[in-house]
Amino acid sequence: MKSLTTRRVCTTRPALLLFFMLAAACSRTPAETPSPRPIAVPKDASTLATVDAFVARHLVLDLTADFSARTLSGTAELRFDRRDPNATEVVLDTRDLKIEKVEAATGAGAWMATTHRLDAATPAFGSALHIAMPAGADRVRVAYSTSPGARGLQWLAPSQTAGKEHPFLFSQAQAIQARSFIPLQDTPGVRMTYDATIRTPKELVAVMAAEMEDVGPALSDGPHRVFTFKMPQAIPSYLIALAIGDLAFKPMSNRTGIWAEPSMVDAAAREFDDTEKMIVTTEKLYGPYRWGRYDILVLPPSFPFGGMENPRLTFATPTVIAGDKSLVSLVAHELAHSWSGNLVTNATWHDFWLNEGFTTYLERRIVEALYGKHMADMQAAIGVSDLAESRKTLEVAGDRTLLPDLTGRDPDDAFSNVPYEQGRLFLVFLESKFGRDAFDSFLRKWFDEHAFESATTDEFLAFLETNLLDTRPGAVTDAQIQEWLHTEGIPGFAVLPTSDAFAKVEQARDEWLKGGSMDALAKTASAWSTQEWIHFVDSMPRKMEASRLAALDRQFTLTESMNSEIAHVWYRLAIANRYAAAYPAMERYMIRIGRRKLIVPLYRDLAAYPEGLALANKIFAKARDGYHPLAQTTVADILKPKT
Ligand code: BES
Ligand code: ZN
Repeated sequence: MKSLTTRRVCTTRPALLLFFMLAAACSRTPAETPSPRPIAVPKDASTLATVDAFVARHLVLDLTADFSARTLSGTAELRFDRRDPNATEVVLDTRDLKIEKVEAATGAGAWMATTHRLDAATPAFGSALHIAMPAGADRVRVAYSTSPGARGLQWLAPSQTAGKEHPFLFSQAQAIQARSFIPLQDTPGVRMTYDATIRTPKELVAVMAAEMEDVGPALSDGPHRVFTFKMPQAIPSYLIALAIGDLAFKPMSNRTGIWAEPSMVDAAAREFDDTEKMIVTTEKLYGPYRWGRYDILVLPPSFPFGGMENPRLTFATPTVIAGDKSLVSLVAHELAHSWSGNLVTNATWHDFWLNEGFTTYLERRIVEALYGKHMADMQAAIGVSDLAESRKTLEVAGDRTLLPDLTGRDPDDAFSNVPYEQGRLFLVFLESKFGRDAFDSFLRKWFDEHAFESATTDEFLAFLETNLLDTRPGAVTDAQIQEWLHTEGIPGFAVLPTSDAFAKVEQARDEWLKGGSMDALAKTASAWSTQEWIHFVDSMPRKMEASRLAALDRQFTLTESMNSEIAHVWYRLAIANRYAAAYPAMERYMIRIGRRKLIVPLYRDLAAYPEGLALANKIFAKARDGYHPLAQTTVADILKPKT
């Protein structure tokens, strides 16, 4: 049984300015502390850990951040549910960790030394850590430190921050990077609660995707400031998240706020000011928000993703702060994961579409409710065109379907828009067959009945059959469901976004291309949204006279666009046309920004012809050190000589 408990977690301490700032973000949450059913953990190709005899239920972290050595070091304690009294070993995931010492214990008993062995590293999954478990033991404590190149961490020099004065650290655990900063069972089929103590340099602030407990300079330990956190809801390892930097907090409502460098908080709070409305909207559709607070951490521009749905604290790129709220569907997306993903979690990365397809569906529903159907249709149309392009770049056939084969591969190598947009189209199709009301109730039931659990595609299909398909036999055939899962294209019976979402933009574009006046175009375009601009630029011919591009650029200052998405499609158009006037600005953009979605297509386009490849290599040489380890790998892979 799940029980509602109210835990008071913010302690009152002597008042200091920083304390108040932090205390605003600290909360007393009615935490729903779930007790996961002891169901078998599904087989996951992306873990080296064993999950049959021991299943982690709680984690205790105590880590010190050393910015000069670029390491986190300390201890991780795992408390297991021991399911086999005779088991003598547990295997954990690690990657590039230096293991200092391993101990074991039984219940609250004393720690005893135990033996361990670290296997040789595999490129895809890291090294298995084998730990001998004495009879009855159900806890381990590992003393370790991370490597400066840990794939799940990015250590930033002060020059890479907005303030330029302090260094910065952030983690990114999804999909299988948690093991590069914590030894654990790194599979989304295992959920645990956690407590963490983080020691930072005195002038910096630590935040985690958890409840902040004790704060303030009052709690210091030698040269460090100490922060403690508690995560009362059981989460999978990929949702553990930490950031340390010169951070300030600004509330937006009584349960939402912004964490960012001091110079960024105001702009971010203005941009994301609709967050509370988004939560209310989503709660109406899919049930209560169950995580207490919802804050957003705005990271420096090297953050390799748009956003990451870390529970209670979405991590976000600053590249969506456009000044006009035009890119805030990102918040709708990450917030939606609080239901699809964080509450009901893909049991393995093979089932990733259960996270992202559902979330993309929810995202567009939130956008529709808040910004209207036309806006949602435009975003859906952009999504479908991105899907087609994404499929073209995928070399492994299975990756073009909803169910990629991840055997022996890092799930990051299979990452694409397919689970997002094909997954969403599947749900839109179901919605069209059963009606919106029935489909909304169905989704809500899915979230409620699987809350704080992990689910496989097969479990979803069984639930779909009983709770939706059987209500109207014959409305959807088995063959159609199979096609959604296994086809490498969009099924012919899909319900696509209305084709006239951009009709007016296309008309204006065609008139101008046929020789219409710039004034006429400018008049029409003055009313365009960011999405209309994206479509306009992205649908321009890939062969145009330089003079025409220059005219557009003069009129609409596209090369210097402050909107990261518009600049992105413009640079792609520039590359296609070898319009070199845009290159210096593009180079600055590719050095400043590390968000893969914005830079990878540019590198790919450049790499397609010899002079472009030379430019791409030149830019990468300057940008590389500033990129996140994941972005470095992706770009290096694109630029490596083809054999
Ligand atoms: N969970 C993803 C990011 C992710 C996926 C990180 C897989 C690592 C592995 C997040 O919710 C996401 O999808 N972010 C998108 C933005 C969104 C608006 C589509 C991104 O980063 O571009
Ligand atoms: Zn997502």
